[in-house]
Amino acid sequence: MIKLLNIAKRFLNEADIPENGVLADFTMGNGKDTLYLSTLVPKGKVYAFDIQQESINNTKELLSSEGYSNAQLILDSHANLDSYIKEEIDGGMFNLGFRPGGDKNIHTMADSTLVAVEKAMGILKRGGVLVISVYPGHKEGKCEGELLEEFLKKYDKKQYSVIMYKIINSTDSPFILAVQKSL
Ligand SMILES: C[S@@+](CC[C@H](N)C(=O)[O-])C[C@H]1O[C@@H](n2cnc3c(N)ncnc32)[C@H](O)[C@@H]1O
Repeated sequence: MIKLLNIAKRFLNEADIPENGVLADFTMGNGKDTLYLSTLVPKGKVYAFDIQQESINNTKELLSSEGYSNAQLILDSHANLDSYIKEEIDGGMFNLGFRPGGDKNIHTMADSTLVAVEKAMGILKRGGVLVISVYPGHKEGKCEGELLEEFLKKYDKKQYSVIMYKIINSTDSPFILAVQKSL
């Protein structure tokens, strides 16, 4: 079976991110994606956001057990990313929805997700890649997916390529939106 997260990572793996690059995990959760991004830029920096203290705790523990200290863990909404990231980024990940093993009532919300995606696209370096994993199996996820698709469609194709990667014989399946800023 095709694994969505592996596909999301493939977009970043192929983006030629330098080892001293700057990446962002906009939905830290338990830190697996933050760890993955940290391995891509061992001499660079990862900004990681979440609104739950437990996500910070779990991610801190995971990164330290794997020997990584290049991530800044930020307890705030990704919608406020511009208060923390004052430089361009080589790439970023949004893994929408709720934290695996956590409170399912705490999940990403379309309004703040859209604000954050727009801001993240504004700080992408040329050639930089943003990957968004969407989970339309629940109400808010469906809404996020529809709004994101509409929103991303409007970008000028000369400036950004936007790809949708979707399983078409299963409407509720997660899908990926990947954005690359033109060189
Ligand atoms: C599907 S989980 C992310 C999984 C994570 N990347 C991992 O590797 O474990 C989504 C996360 O987004 C967080 N979240 C929800 N709203 C947010 C917001 N406005 N800003 C930042 N994170 C948010 C949730 O608390 C949850 O931990």
